[in-house]
Amino acid sequence: MKIALTRPVSPSLARCELTHMARAPIDVARAAAQHAAYEECLRALGCDVRPLPAAPGHPDAVFVEDTAVVFDELAVITRPGAASRRAETGAAAEALAALRPLRYIEAPGTVDGGDVLAVERTVFVGLSTRTNAEGAAQLARALEPHGYAVRTLAVSSCLHLKSAATAAAPGTVLLNPGWVDAGAFRAFERIDVDPAEPLGANALNAGAAVVYAAAFARTRDRLQRHGLTVRTVEMDELAKAEGAVTCCSLLFASHGATATS
Ligand code: GLY
Repeated sequence: MKIALTRPVSPSLARCELTHMARAPIDVARAAAQHAAYEECLRALGCDVRPLPAAPGHPDAVFVEDTAVVFDELAVITRPGAASRRAETGAAAEALAALRPLRYIEAPGTVDGGDVLAVERTVFVGLSTRTNAEGAAQLARALEPHGYAVRTLAVSSCLHLKSAATAAAPGTVLLNPGWVDAGAFRAFERIDVDPAEPLGANALNAGAAVVYAAAFARTRDRLQRHGLTVRTVEMDELAKAEGAVTCCSLLFASHGATATS
């Protein structure tokens, strides 16, 4: 069983941070409907969906992935790279405190969860406009005692590492080779996005299926040809806020170490 922490779409979503995209009008009601369908998809796949409290004053709060990284052994509460997002982490810490021992990224370190990609026991950390070397070093110090190998790689053509590469299945990386050094993932099976779908590298492995944006039909076909079961969701309104399927949840096993164990 997996737990999925989510957070409602804020009415202020249109004031979200944007890094690589031009600002376009956002229909907040439509974004909220797409988010509700995403949560329903996760429930249908057997996830225990637990929404965090609404944060109407935080435009990007729906992108809860950036506030923490959760492993079986511990959870690391991040310090997001965008100052406007730093107050989002408290709700994640409160929810995770009963589920995992917590560690925290401290200043001057910054980490966005979207820059942290775990593939089996290797944790790739994207050095981006949001995540700095000090944040990556703090993450390494938290994870290496638990047997994880932490590797950094540069991210400059997109917002987060997970805009460019995600673990679509255990040991299988879906990536856009134009946005990330594909050689970093040579130890794993690799699926490239269709060249016509550069934004298509973000997929959420929900266990029973891969949750994937409906907009990227050609890459979806590649995932299916690889033998993966795919459930598509409409994400185009949230995508205007530079969000994608992994961004909208913190998804982790319910059976990890608890704070007291
Ligand atoms: N709008 C998503 C982010 O910049 O964090």
